Amino acid sequence: MAKKGFSDENLVNMINVLITGVAGFIGSNLADRLLQEDDYYIIGIDNLSYGVREQVPEGIEFYELDIRDKSIYPLFKDIDYVFHLAAKNSIIDCQNDPVETADINVTGSVNVFQASLRAKVKKIIYAESSAMYEGCDILPTPENIVVPESFYAISKYSSMYFAKAYARYYNLKSTALRYFCVYGPRQDYRRTIPPVFSAFIIKLLKGEQPIIYGTGDKRRDFIHVDDVNDFHIICMNDDRTTGKVFNLGCGKNYSVKEIYHTISDLLHSDIKPIFKPDLPGEAFANLADITEAKKLGWEPKIDLTTGLRTSINYIQNEIKLGKT
Ligand SMILES: NC(=O)c1ccc[n+]([C@@H]2O[C@H](COP(=O)([O-])OP(=O)(O)OC[C@H]3O[C@@H](n4cnc5c(N)ncnc54)[C@H](O)[C@@H]3O)[C@@H](O)[C@H]2O)c1
Repeated sequence: MAKKGFSDENLVNMINVLITGVAGFIGSNLADRLLQEDDYYIIGIDNLSYGVREQVPEGIEFYELDIRDKSIYPLFKDIDYVFHLAAKNSIIDCQNDPVETADINVTGSVNVFQASLRAKVKKIIYAESSAMYEGCDILPTPENIVVPESFYAISKYSSMYFAKAYARYYNLKSTALRYFCVYGPRQDYRRTIPPVFSAFIIKLLKGEQPIIYGTGDKRRDFIHVDDVNDFHIICMNDDRTTGKVFNLGCGKNYSVKEIYHTISDLLHSDIKPIFKPDLPGEAFANLADITEAKKLGWEPKIDLTTGLRTSINYIQNEIKLGKT
């Protein structure tokens, strides 16, 4: 494996990390975070279907490849930890194309597990989703109750069973992360229906009316990407995470209307939203039981208003740079 810009001596002491989905929101933030610590050599893979090249941080080795392709295998040589984040993850896109959803999120994930097994990586840390709780009415929801309904949630559920089988039959170590609604800089604002934070911020900054799908009473547990990254680091350093699944949320939820008003207040805007019919495949409420993650000394540090300011600054800057 060619390692750009590092002497052999330096490389001996470095931890080699491979991130799939590195051009996306969470993957690019994770790469940035690891680069700050100097201990990591990072290889990133992304097919740029949702992510964008400019989000891939300088200082990593980047490959524009599809996780379903066997040509990714050589990149796993000498890798210590894999973060598997690439996915088709827009719920509405997944509802519209269940075949591609299964192909990327199940077959693609299995290909990443296989590549990790062949390369004897120490551990793979991979993304599940709070969407796997969408048919469950127990709130806050602990990790042991899973009721997936949408095609997206079912694809995540299926890849979970492949990870379990890789552990059982081949001893491939893994940690599963059930992210709730992650937000922060680089959250995608480009897709047709972006996640609520980006959707509201970009419209309000442009002086346009944002859309609320449904009544605005749906409640979501939001977690800042920097808090998520704190847990990513724990996954590499703490063996108690191996073979386990963790909810990553704040343990608090807010209605879409509350989020709308908080963002409007921060932006001093009095623009009213447009209400449209609800979207299919979305739960009414989610709320994480984060007891398991807290047992490892982790807890969310960033409150909603502070976190929202980082999202606003990011989108303001994108507008200033003429990117949107
Ligand atoms: N952001 C959230 O709130 C959230 C919540 C729950 C779960 N997740 C999961 O976390 C992971 C990361 O989410 P994100 O918000 O960063 O999403 P994102 O869409 O910003 O990033 C995913 C990246 O994967 C890439 N990708 C998609 N298909 C690919 C393929 N076939 N080959 C290679 N690359 C491919 C995309 O181009 C994109 O850059 C996903 O697995 C997602 O399902 C995210």
